[in-house]
Amino acid sequence: MIITGKYPNLRMRRSRKEEWSRRLVRENSLSGSDFVLPIFVTDGKNRKVEIKSMKGVYRYSVDNLSSIIDRAINNKIPMIAIFPETNKKLKDLKGSEALNENNLVCKAIRNVKKKYKNYIGIMCDVALDPYTSHGHDGIIKKNEILNDETVEILIKQALLQAEMGCDVIAPSDMMDGRIGKIRKELDRKGFKKIQILSYAVKYSSSFYGPFRDAIGSKNSLKGNKKTYQMDYGNSDEALREVSIDIKEGADMVMVKPGLPYLDIIKDIKNRFKIPVLAYQVSGEYSLLTNAIKNRILKPEAIYETLLSFKRAGANAIISYHADYLDKILK
Ligand code: PBG
Repeated sequence: MIITGKYPNLRMRRSRKEEWSRRLVRENSLSGSDFVLPIFVTDGKNRKVEIKSMKGVYRYSVDNLSSIIDRAINNKIPMIAIFPETNKKLKDLKGSEALNENNLVCKAIRNVKKKYKNYIGIMCDVALDPYTSHGHDGIIKKNEILNDETVEILIKQALLQAEMGCDVIAPSDMMDGRIGKIRKELDRKGFKKIQILSYAVKYSSSFYGPFRDAIGSKNSLKGNKKTYQMDYGNSDEALREVSIDIKEGADMVMVKPGLPYLDIIKDIKNRFKIPVLAYQVSGEYSLLTNAIKNRILKPEAIYETLLSFKRAGANAIISYHADYLDKILK
């Protein structure tokens, strides 16, 4: 129960009267350690190309990652997430390129680990969508995304990323049973210390549009992902997903997208006491940056939004804004 006073003895505005006083009683704050920075990698040399639907976000060639990673480390960001824009010619029905040890993600992991050692963590998605010609996260037979057959490939993909030096394996595919199977295989091959961050609660969302453009799967995606990603009418189901993944061995769980799902973040945090990450996805990024560019919102809207994830209980936020922390935290 909350015990409180009564007006006129009590005046809530007293603590809001000055900036110092507001700071004194503030319950939540943001720092560099609260962020994960997503980075898109692409082919070529010395390249940095802006993504049309995500102003201010770029695809980098693997040899050109130093500036963005140096900035992240200076801002105390603990981890980056690597996403590839795979050449169309390398995409096929089974997503074979996912298992190529010289694919973009593998090259990027090796380069970054060699240069930066453990000054920053690396997280990688486990899912086939950057590599399949149809843009789905798994393999298809007669219009069905096959679960168990896909998981067998995901296990190999996770193992390959671990061998390359990836620190955190992040299955984002929403197949059933994959966390347990990946954990078991990682352990069997001696990767007991590799962490698993499960995209346990990933909704089938319209907010992923710009990301699909960034990794070049937007135009090829056939249909939607509703048979494996969650229905956004549900919240009990989110708790079930999390409890399953915890039992299967997840170290951390993700809720995705972010802002429309603050209720879910809070619920998970309160019930499971496990590290929860919020993914402020591409569509959320683009909405905010466009509104700011068009002077519909003030830039402080970014800070307000990011802080809301902390207030809801997130331990960290995966955000494209994380490349602009100098400005945001000022
Ligand atoms: C791949 C994946 C997606 C995102 C992260 N990993 C897209 C999807 O499921 O279609 C979206 C991230 C974003 O929109 O910023 N499984």
